[in-house]
Amino acid sequence: MTKFRVGVIGAGSIAQSHLTAYSENADVELIAVADMNLERAQSVADQYGARRAYADPHELLADDEVDAVSICTWNNSHANWAIAAIEAGKHVLVEKPIARTLEEALEIQKAVEKSDRVVQVGFVRRHSPNCQVLKSFIDADELGEIYYAKASCIRRMGNPGGWFADKEIAGGGPLLDIGIHVLDLCWYLMGSPKVVSVSGNTYDRLGNRANITTMPRYQVADYDPDKNSVEDMANAVIRFENGASLLLDCSYSLHATQDSIDVSVYGDKGGAELEPALHIATEMHDSVVNIEPQIASRSFEFGVGFANEIQNFVDSGLGRAETIAPAWHGVEIVRILEAIYESAETGREISLV
Ligand SMILES: NC(=O)c1ccc[n+]([C@@H]2O[C@H](COP(=O)([O-])OP(=O)(O)OC[C@H]3O[C@@H](n4cnc5c(N)ncnc54)[C@H](O)[C@@H]3O)[C@@H](O)[C@H]2O)c1
Repeated sequence: MTKFRVGVIGAGSIAQSHLTAYSENADVELIAVADMNLERAQSVADQYGARRAYADPHELLADDEVDAVSICTWNNSHANWAIAAIEAGKHVLVEKPIARTLEEALEIQKAVEKSDRVVQVGFVRRHSPNCQVLKSFIDADELGEIYYAKASCIRRMGNPGGWFADKEIAGGGPLLDIGIHVLDLCWYLMGSPKVVSVSGNTYDRLGNRANITTMPRYQVADYDPDKNSVEDMANAVIRFENGASLLLDCSYSLHATQDSIDVSVYGDKGGAELEPALHIATEMHDSVVNIEPQIASRSFEFGVGFANEIQNFVDSGLGRAETIAPAWHGVEIVRILEAIYESAETGREISLV
């Protein structure tokens, strides 16, 4: 059987999840890993049994044995590597956000349109069983028309520092890093409606809260408490062509009493909370009824999510399926996020029609 021969660009933390899923996938042969830190590329290649390690991703893209790549680098090089990979004839799975700005995202879209390669964006939460089960209910019209959604991802002290806190590299803060996941889940479950307007706010009142030393937090290896140029938190109201609306908020720093995640969609026949756990609400025979699908986990399953995401990419690349997260979805999400920043900066609602 034809193997799907894969290279991974960027060998840091999320690359481990891609590599674990690739190495456990019977359809995949791991060929190479590239990272500007060659030592890291080599050690990760050794760990997962990839044949070659490169310091320069151009070399990996010139490797004829590689059919497809995962791009797991910092956000500032997603567009560059995605376009180079498409032009080199590779299938591409690019981590979220697809790019830092709409301009970069549209450059990727142009390359996608000139190519017959699969270009998938790393919206891993779509692939979690809880989301797929809810999607099957929505596709069967159990919720009716979804007219309202809530997407919230609150960290009270969760600025990771390093490149995540550098606007130039990351493109933005919690909005582009974690808000993007919950926004995307709602938009996906709503059926990818066209956005007509966005009104948003961003705040940077608390900074990275490096002064708090009494609570544990995730920090990247090169954490520097004095470096932070991203927002603490953002919120937005997003309106869609079909009249539906979405409320979003997300934070790295906020005086909240706890971290939380909330993803909910409401239709005229039923509603559902996807996170923190899947519950569906409806009416039956003039009674209000809650439905609790009996699945292994009603919350996001990290490992299974990545395994399913990689399987969808492999199946699409081998012509056995369609990707459920095509590049243009990544572009539309960046269009919304950029409009939130623009609205926050100008103090106006941004029209996208
Ligand atoms: N899907 C998810 O849930 C999820 C979770 C975390 C991170 N991410 C995304 O994954 C990407 C990487 O995040 P991370 O946490 O793994 O970061 P990281 O810093 O741990 O790893 C990034 C790696 O890429 C390498 N790199 C960066 N720019 C490069 C370039 N131009 N050429 C070659 N190598 C380069 C770095 O040396 C580093 O080893 C980001 O875009 C992030 O948004 C997604």
